Amino acid sequence: MTAPRWDRLWLNVRLATMEPDGAAYGAIEDGAIATSGDRIAFVGPRQDLPAAPEACAVVVTDCGGAWITPGLIDCHTHLVFGGERAHEFELRLEGASYEEIARAGGGIRSTVNATRGASEDVLFASARSRLRETMAQGVTTIEIKSGYGLSTEAEMKMLRVARRLGAELPVDVRTSFLGAHALPPEYEGRQSDYVKMVCDEMLPAIAKAGLADAVDAFCENIGFTPAETDAVFDAARRNGLAVKLHADQLSDLGGAALAARHGALSADHLEHTSQDGVAAMAKAGTVAVLLPGAFYFLRDTKVPPIEAFRRAGVPMAVASDCNPGSSPALSLLLMLNMACTLFRLRPEEALAGVTRNAARALGLNDRGRLAVGLNADFALWDVGRPAELCYWIGGNPCRSVVRRGIER
Ligand code: NIG
Ligand code: FE
Repeated sequence: MTAPRWDRLWLNVRLATMEPDGAAYGAIEDGAIATSGDRIAFVGPRQDLPAAPEACAVVVTDCGGAWITPGLIDCHTHLVFGGERAHEFELRLEGASYEEIARAGGGIRSTVNATRGASEDVLFASARSRLRETMAQGVTTIEIKSGYGLSTEAEMKMLRVARRLGAELPVDVRTSFLGAHALPPEYEGRQSDYVKMVCDEMLPAIAKAGLADAVDAFCENIGFTPAETDAVFDAARRNGLAVKLHADQLSDLGGAALAARHGALSADHLEHTSQDGVAAMAKAGTVAVLLPGAFYFLRDTKVPPIEAFRRAGVPMAVASDCNPGSSPALSLLLMLNMACTLFRLRPEEALAGVTRNAARALGLNDRGRLAVGLNADFALWDVGRPAELCYWIGGNPCRSVVRRGIER
């Protein structure tokens, strides 16, 4: 038998494959992983290699016992935006609430002003520097939402910037159209007209331009009603796009159940989700995306119903929600720590939340685990055990990242 000729082989590694069945973390001690082109060609115990390492691959690397995980996936961000909102942070620390600031015309609307006023190049440059930070911590796929433009032109501008980030940097960008994020000032008092415009003009134009992979909405007292969210999701379906929802973050409007009814990929936030919402998500296979950064930064006290998700078998993902208002978070590793400390996820659950379950929250089945045939996206870590990725507060043990078979 002639040995396979893989492009690269990493030896002397410990693999957290994140395969759900078997050992914790799907771990393989004394493992080996190989790539052919942009795919994983081998993953398993070193002793299962079909021949001597040098006979198997063109390049062989000894990793000295490093841990390898799938490339991390941040499945909920608002990474593209103009300006910042540090002053609102100061106001909140003096006692103003997130809702009060939003109702007074600040909040999302202030970022809308800054985003509308910024050129595509300026938006790109600021988002690129944030993206580099997160990529340095092993992120190989990131979702980016629009929602700070709120006109067809400005939403398209944001989504073009997101697409360009994916084209120019070695990372996969998935985009979500979030036109129903806030009411733009020019529609004050005419919310139903705005929703109609989102459904009949913005969404079809954006779908036709191929700028969005999914549609999101903010179903909340300071956002859009369940009926308006239904309308947006119906329009998404008409235009062939998957849906996901900012659900039950500040109050229980039945967002989780609504998302499930529409077969949503995910419902996100979920602090106020009821038992009915959990059951509906379990039935529909909708992923619960937990956003501990927003919980922390808004000094929220209502924890999402983690134990109910667990018992019902709802897959849980963890994401940064990176945005200037509720979660200025550039570290997905810190989100892992917060998911464990604030939400009581086990480190293995948290890590599944930024790999296997995050892939599912984006409707992607070609990543999020280490398995033959999947995208060769993985990260090498200088840690003694996978739980260390959830343990440190700050710092970055990421040694290197391989994306589509290429070390970046
Ligand atoms: O996911 N909740 C709505 N959207 C964002 C916050 C956006 C903002 O405050 O700018 C979130 O928390
Ligand atoms: Fe969000």
